[in-house]
Amino acid sequence: MRIEQNYSLLKHNTFRLDVKARWFVEYENEEDLQKLLSDEYFFSQSFWHIGKGSNLLFLGDFNGVIVHSGIRGIETVGENDNHIWLKVGAAENWDDFVAYCVENGWGGIENLSYIPGEIGASAIQNIGAYGAEVADCIFEVHAYSVKTGEKQIFNQPDCEYSYRHSFFKEPENKGLYYITHVVYRLNKNHEYNLEYGNIREYLADKEINLKTVREAIIAIRKYKLPDPEKVGNAGSFFTNPYFCMEHFNSLKKHYPDIPHYPVNNEVVKVPAAWLIEQCGFKGKSFRGAAVHEKQPLVIVNQNNATGNDIASLAEEIRKAVKNKFFIDLQPEVNYI
Ligand code: EPU
Repeated sequence: MRIEQNYSLLKHNTFRLDVKARWFVEYENEEDLQKLLSDEYFFSQSFWHIGKGSNLLFLGDFNGVIVHSGIRGIETVGENDNHIWLKVGAAENWDDFVAYCVENGWGGIENLSYIPGEIGASAIQNIGAYGAEVADCIFEVHAYSVKTGEKQIFNQPDCEYSYRHSFFKEPENKGLYYITHVVYRLNKNHEYNLEYGNIREYLADKEINLKTVREAIIAIRKYKLPDPEKVGNAGSFFTNPYFCMEHFNSLKKHYPDIPHYPVNNEVVKVPAAWLIEQCGFKGKSFRGAAVHEKQPLVIVNQNNATGNDIASLAEEIRKAVKNKFFIDLQPEVNYI
């Protein structure tokens, strides 16, 4: 088990905030995790488990224990003519895993290429992009309960997945399950999912296979989204809000072009990016933080912003959207 004191989290948050943790603990295996979860000193502190830190906003130093998994490895645990089941360690890099599946001809997650993060978080967050959600390829999630110290295996339905949500994000469970492995079920005879946005346009004169779809997704993301290696950011700052039909229809009278996607007969989803752009925030900055000029759902650390600068800009956006459209944007990013 690796234990560090007064440890800089600069490399552990994609907003690139130079904050410190009083303690940083990285466990390498389940035995170490069990030890941690039976340690009295650990429970006397505040604690928070992180992945790659691609969805976190540190508002200052963390006076407690930041926990990180070091569990690696990809193991085949089942196979038939149509599917393969892979058990993957929580600390594996998400996009390396996507690349590995694509190289081997296993489909299902290629539309989720180039999303920063680690395997464990993919299962908590239900990462989604370009018409795909990881929930559709998750078979099991292996986790330890922080409350009981016991190992639990969650079948896919137990994870209660919905848009950017899971059992693990429910208020009573948040931060209280440490994922060790995720078992994914990938397809050997794969059907492609090319209807979102301009994926087909990118593939117009190309053969369609897992590799070309992955290349198209990477090209689209690179064009639209800032690279966290160059400019600190955490991808989408807010989730796309749901509107009931009554509310949506009253807005549509004033904004006939409001983009929307039906969720069911009673609810539509409206892109938060559009709401934010309508409020005039595209490209706007506050101290070192700024709204990305190509995708206003993304807030960037443009010039040595603090966590509070980023949070203040997010709050201004939230207030403006609330005043104009009577809807509360919910941050997708976790404030720590
Ligand atoms: N839009 C604008 N102005 C803009 C950009 C977008 O009005 O400057 C509107 C347009 O109507 C556009 C719509 O927003 O059609 C959707 O935009 P986009 O395709 O970029 O997707 P998004 O809904 O803003 C979601 C995910 C992204 C994911 C993309 C692509 C959420 C919170 N975000 O964004 O995920 O990459 O779809 O599938 O659902 C992330 O989670 O970090 C992330 C980047």
